[in-house]
Amino acid sequence: MAEFPRIRPRRLRHHPLIRGLVRETTLCVDDLILPLFVRPGRGIKKEIASMPGNHQLSVDCLVEEVGASLDLGIRAFLLFGIPSHKDATGSSALDPEGIVPQALRAVRKEYGERALLMTDECFCEYTDHGHCGVLTEATGRLDLDNDATLPLLAEQCVGHARAGADLVAPSGMLDGMVGAIRTALDAAGFSHVPIMSYSAKYASGFYGPFRDAAESPPQFGDRNGYQMDPANGDEALREVELDLAEGADIVMVKPALAYLDILRRVKERFAVPVAAYNVSGEFAMVKAAAQKGWIDERRIALEILTSIKRAGADMILTYFARDAALWLK
Ligand code: PBG
Repeated sequence: MAEFPRIRPRRLRHHPLIRGLVRETTLCVDDLILPLFVRPGRGIKKEIASMPGNHQLSVDCLVEEVGASLDLGIRAFLLFGIPSHKDATGSSALDPEGIVPQALRAVRKEYGERALLMTDECFCEYTDHGHCGVLTEATGRLDLDNDATLPLLAEQCVGHARAGADLVAPSGMLDGMVGAIRTALDAAGFSHVPIMSYSAKYASGFYGPFRDAAESPPQFGDRNGYQMDPANGDEALREVELDLAEGADIVMVKPALAYLDILRRVKERFAVPVAAYNVSGEFAMVKAAAQKGWIDERRIALEILTSIKRAGADMILTYFARDAALWLK
């Protein structure tokens, strides 16, 4: 068997252009999806303290932000709505004149097909209790009512498709959500609208900054009854399998960085389009350390995004999308 000194792996690292030829993973701006937060009002661009460079935007400012991002080469956006009114059932999520439908129509009017508009589909930003649907006490403790939430979630998705969403992304980790949404979209004439399911979404501390951004923290309890236990891997495969059977077109693993093993397993097992969500806490850690001068932000952000792609992600939702688009130019 040939071995050292005949075999020298360093030979392929010596010349920078050879390193380019043998590089296995290339990150590009087409892989990135930028999450955006839209709120009522006019002329509002309110920076999210724990997510520097990211803002809560009124519809007019959102339109500008999408335009600036398109100029950087970013084509795909995920919209989160922060409504003016919250109640027990999250009724403003179903309002055809709600904040997300308004945003969809305004961005579409300005940029037509140039922008790919995805919508996060969940009730946690719309309910006064901050849970991802309606509640029940039927099980003896106040809990998310899975089955009663499904038709509401399906209605939210149809409303967003009607307002112009190109793809819907349910994030509530409800059992049967993909099937319910697929049936409703098909019945309403939206059989061409894909579903990107947050299939393996963990109950994670990494969502901390997001809950300030979207004003959506649970007012009591936690999400451990619907989001996954960080200790579990096989369960993620089961979740993905069920979502695919129900008609999911793209499956997501979230968060990304502490779950690269899950990304890899999902990609290897199912060979379907996989998205990874590089979440708010992952972003905030890098920004904070960079602000202290402790790390090289650009180098670390690109290394993280590349590692997520290498692990198996076809696309990455990331608050670094704008920075990365500049760095990758
Ligand atoms: C729920 C939702 C959350 C995120 C995306 N969709 C929050 C949660 O489940 O608590 C987190 C995103 C992030 O942390 O960047 N609508």
